[in-house]
Amino acid sequence: MLCRICKREACVALKSHNTAFCSDCFLQFFSRQVERGIEKEGLLTRDDKILVALSGGKDSLSLMLELSRQGYAVTGFHLDLGIPNSSEKAREAVQAVCEKEKLPLVVESLATHDLAIPDVAAHIRRPICSACGTIKRYFFNRKAVELGMTVLATGHNLDDEVARLLSNTLRWDKSYLASQGPNLPAENGFVRKVKPLWRLTEFEIANYAFLQGIHNVYTTCPYSHGASFSVLKGLMQRLEEKMPGRKIDFYQGFLERGRPHFTANKETPPITPCPACSCPSSAEGLCSVCRMKQKIQEEKARCASATQ
Ligand code: FES
Ligand code: ZN
Repeated sequence: MLCRICKREACVALKSHNTAFCSDCFLQFFSRQVERGIEKEGLLTRDDKILVALSGGKDSLSLMLELSRQGYAVTGFHLDLGIPNSSEKAREAVQAVCEKEKLPLVVESLATHDLAIPDVAAHIRRPICSACGTIKRYFFNRKAVELGMTVLATGHNLDDEVARLLSNTLRWDKSYLASQGPNLPAENGFVRKVKPLWRLTEFEIANYAFLQGIHNVYTTCPYSHGASFSVLKGLMQRLEEKMPGRKIDFYQGFLERGRPHFTANKETPPITPCPACSCPSSAEGLCSVCRMKQKIQEEKARCASATQ
């Protein structure tokens, strides 16, 4: 197969675009898709100070690298979750790429806040992935505010977004449908959130990461069973194989023609600052992260007194 642009030997075949590229032309295609995603949804300007949430996976590292190559002012933020045999590797992967590419990086550890994920899993009666998601969103927002950033960028890709959209649609969850999209505005103490890779699939990002020398050393989270999301991703992938282009059509159609119906009727709960940490919260009294922290401390104290 030959590259559509330069007619040299192709190394990446993209079924949904009905085309193939050599490595140089693929990297240009990738940059152009990121640019189009940013332009189409008005995600970023050259004046933005962008905090990029870096998990250690290829998606967020590719995002950080590509935005910096496009001349955006990016700072990476890695939250160390404190999960044995997993978090060390994630932190090392982030540090290695940022050092090699000379990208600014801030690292914070959940253990220093008594919120390491194994502690949360042991003491909080709530599905760990949901508690972990709440904690990550809290620290990403808090760090962005603390560093005076204008926007938080995450590495969510088209497959993530389409699986989420399918899940929200299957449940007709109006509130989640109203707040899904690659550009979530700043409100009530929450910084703006953007997903500049929304037009690119996992496969395309994996190729970009490989060509840029970003190694995928990140191990799957031991707590993640990921059942429902991977089923939905698999379903959409099978559909895409039979009908190339369906994923981007479904998501783009939602942004243009579906989402406005849900945002028009969006109900926003009142937001007040948490009395303990001052972060914005929709809960009465302590915010959900401060409540988790309090609960863990109480449970630990109870266990310690029971063993004395
Ligand atoms: Fe948070 Fe697995 S990454 S629970
Ligand atoms: Zn709080």
